[in-house]
Amino acid sequence: MPSATALDLGLIHPADSPDSPWWRDAVIYQIYPRSWADGDGDGMGDLPGIITRLPYLSELGVDAVWLSPFYVSPMNDAGYDVADYRDIDPLFGTLADADALIAAAHELGLKVLIDLVPNHTSSDHVWFQAALQAGPGSPERDRYIFRDGRGPRGEQPPNNWRSVFGGQGWSRVLEPDGTPGQWYLHIFDTTQPDLNWAHEDVRAEFDAILRYWLDRGVDGFRVDVAHGLVKEEGLPDFRGSMHLPDNPIGTRFPMWDLDGVHEIYRRWRAILDGYTVAGDTASERILCAEAWVRPESRLARYVRPDEMHQAFNFDFLACGWAAEPLREVIENSLRSNDRVGAPTTWVLSNHDVVRHASRLGLPAAATGHALGGVGAQDPQPDAAVGLRRARAATTLMLALPGGAYLYQGEELGLPEHTTLPDASRQDPTYHRTKGTDEASIGRDGCRVPMPWVADTPGFGFGPTGRTWLPQPEVYREYAVDVQDGVPSSTLSLYRDLLAYRRKHRFGHGSLAWDEEFTSASVIAFRNTSGDGERTVLVITNLGEQNIALPDGDVLIASGPLAEDGSVPTDTTVWLRLPMRG
Ligand code: NOJ
Repeated sequence: MPSATALDLGLIHPADSPDSPWWRDAVIYQIYPRSWADGDGDGMGDLPGIITRLPYLSELGVDAVWLSPFYVSPMNDAGYDVADYRDIDPLFGTLADADALIAAAHELGLKVLIDLVPNHTSSDHVWFQAALQAGPGSPERDRYIFRDGRGPRGEQPPNNWRSVFGGQGWSRVLEPDGTPGQWYLHIFDTTQPDLNWAHEDVRAEFDAILRYWLDRGVDGFRVDVAHGLVKEEGLPDFRGSMHLPDNPIGTRFPMWDLDGVHEIYRRWRAILDGYTVAGDTASERILCAEAWVRPESRLARYVRPDEMHQAFNFDFLACGWAAEPLREVIENSLRSNDRVGAPTTWVLSNHDVVRHASRLGLPAAATGHALGGVGAQDPQPDAAVGLRRARAATTLMLALPGGAYLYQGEELGLPEHTTLPDASRQDPTYHRTKGTDEASIGRDGCRVPMPWVADTPGFGFGPTGRTWLPQPEVYREYAVDVQDGVPSSTLSLYRDLLAYRRKHRFGHGSLAWDEEFTSASVIAFRNTSGDGERTVLVITNLGEQNIALPDGDVLIASGPLAEDGSVPTDTTVWLRLPMRG
């Protein structure tokens, strides 16, 4: 048994109140609509496909789904370039399908979050088209960020900002008379002009968009680029990298994390709160920030009581596989969020980063590099090491207090497609940086369609076998039907983790480090329920020595234990400790 001193150690994080709202400990599953399930056989996932597969998610044991964008879009950035925020792209279905999806999910007890993309529209959006037609100085142009260029003929961009996707952050337009004219800002692709959030039209329009979807029954929004809406007055030049992790902590950016964004989220929070039925916490609608912001204390500002409910913990995702940095991120995140009364929202994978089953098997895994894609010419991940660590990392994550997001396919231990043919690549990052010194292979490798049935064309993604990105042959081994009912499979592990987590309410528990087991290569903590009735010791072994366990019931292990019952490398165990006294 752990010593009394270990048990008496102070809490890092106190337990949540037992009647706290659903979202504080929710596990939310990200569906990337293009790649989850294809209903009509065109090789592109769609809403009818999603509806047929929803029971799989209630069986998995998640609380909610988040759908990446399904709106009308020219698809230059896989739908993050929205041309009409109030309709569904025909590739994905119709508004009636969206209504049916929301109803079907609710029927199964699943909440539905959708993606809101407020930093930019598509250049196909009616507002941008009107801005092009209306010319310089017009109210239409003022909804975006148009400026005259520098240089004698305005031939230089207004400042030196780069696009996050590579290349210049500005494009020059041809004025209605056919002459080269003003420039517009696009922090992402050329076809994603940034909106001017200082303009009341923009604010009013997004209030209306929120209401439109809330009225249709959605339970919340994941907010794209939540740290980018407000830009510094005068748009000063910037000398750092547009990618947050490449800059020292504490860097001030003229386009990221300006204080002005918080006013917008307070306004949205008031709108969402207007939909809460008094006395019914289940009716609460939520906002989750996609904000690449450091340090943790800056991120916590997005989840102050009158702002958003959740913010993805990207420091945890980007941390890599090393005990001390992980422990530091966990502690700093819990402490920063506790200060504002918010839960922490853990995440390991999404559609923008290398899947963690591959990322953690890369030679650079310890430092958390390679977030942005792996190509055939790059060092390849060790699949076995990656999967073992991924299972251990998820087993650690799902024992932490707070909420968590899962990315489709991670429950299968799905690896990244690291040898995707270049000709298949669609991510604008790849095309915008090709052949330059900022070359990036792009994010397609984590977006490959799901394998459902091993011995079927397209691994059961849809009725015809077509898939918009080619699947690697190895996906056959990861298909849902191969793993279903197999106790050692990653799918069974996720189902068990989610069931125990829910039963023992880990998301609401307290956290205390366990000093007896903690070391330079071991993470060890106790998650205790608010009433003190149950304590689970969680041990993640990132080192080479096996760890002998104290008395207790092993609830779950992310991989096989050694013959003597000790915990081998890259393994996490949940051990229920006997009651004290
Ligand atoms: C973040 C999204 O997750 C990513 O996929 C997208 O490309 C950018 N924002 C731009 O919308």
